[in-house]
Amino acid sequence: MKNLTTHRLTPLKLTNQITLSNRIVVPPMASGTSDLNGFATQESVNHYTRLGTSQAGLVIVEYSFVHLSGRSEAHQLGINNDEQISGLARLAATIQHSGAVAGIQLTHAGGKTERIFSGGALQSPSGVIVPVKDRTLETPSEMALTEIKDWKDWFISAADRAVKAGFDLVELHAAHGYGLNQWLSPITNKRTDDYGGSIMKNSRIILEIVREIRSQHPGLLLSVRLPGQDFIDGGLTVSDAVLVAQELERTGVNIINISSGIGGWKRPGSRNGEGYLIEEAVMIQSQLSVPVIGVGGIESGAFIDHLVRNSKVSLAAVGRAILKDPASWAKAQLQGLRPTQYLESN
Ligand SMILES: Cc1cc2nc3c(=O)[nH]c(=O)nc-3n(C[C@H](O)[C@H](O)[C@H](O)COP(=O)(O)O)c2cc1C
Repeated sequence: MKNLTTHRLTPLKLTNQITLSNRIVVPPMASGTSDLNGFATQESVNHYTRLGTSQAGLVIVEYSFVHLSGRSEAHQLGINNDEQISGLARLAATIQHSGAVAGIQLTHAGGKTERIFSGGALQSPSGVIVPVKDRTLETPSEMALTEIKDWKDWFISAADRAVKAGFDLVELHAAHGYGLNQWLSPITNKRTDDYGGSIMKNSRIILEIVREIRSQHPGLLLSVRLPGQDFIDGGLTVSDAVLVAQELERTGVNIINISSGIGGWKRPGSRNGEGYLIEEAVMIQSQLSVPVIGVGGIESGAFIDHLVRNSKVSLAAVGRAILKDPASWAKAQLQGLRPTQYLESN
């Protein structure tokens, strides 16, 4: 439905305590600025201070490993031990100082990593190699129920650290082929126990993590980055994603962040233009009450207006266009606009 009064600068109330100042989200983007133990550095703080100049309403800190076995690159940020909390707190504080709500993405790489980073055998739902685009990964081992319990504990402890560091929002990374995507996808989850065999069983580990975080932190904003689809034959479909998103909404998630591709987030050859992954996000938003974030090559404020005004999605993630030059992006796309201009354009 067209709503002429909604546009890129319209605030979005998420809870009684938290309102986003506008519809722009800086999505999680690995910065490679952490030290080799996953600690945030001064460079990391500077990086997020710079991203704050985009004036986005929500800035989500890059994927952060919840346990060393789930680390996927040398300079990845870690949230796997309490000593990291003070560095993480500096990231949350600088984001909040910019006026944005501060989020952080939690991840376990599962089978999408290499031993040099994970320090041991790769873990996965069913021992299936993760089909990434640019390399052939090692065959991972199939996880026992005790290891599933470990994963849940790691994510839940990591969320607790995020809260202690002052973050307003925690996002579970269940897209781009990383660990939780491997649970969702029928390509990588071939289990026949309670954790695989149907879309609801495939999403069980994620739902259990969400339920526990929600019960421990009632006021924390929770987001899940879900694949809109896997973009691979026999993989997760958009209808599957709708069912998972609906169940997550019932379980207390505040935001669903939609990206796509078990092979990674890069633009599929068949898609072009601004919003190349929006199609699935729009479909999912139409079935949900909670806000959905859409992404994929979005650069212009006019395109964001088009999305939110027509209720396609509630929020738009702008990644590389902001990363390139956050302050100039804000100046060109957010400043100097009068409300009436919104009524005249589009
Ligand atoms: C340098 C870089 C690092 C990224 N790291 C992450 C990440 O940590 N977690 C994640 O979910 N997506 C990550 N992404 C994907 C982005 O969040 C986003 O989905 C992607 O860049 C597409 O949006 P854009 O076209 O606006 O850049 C990364 C992208 C880039 C360019």
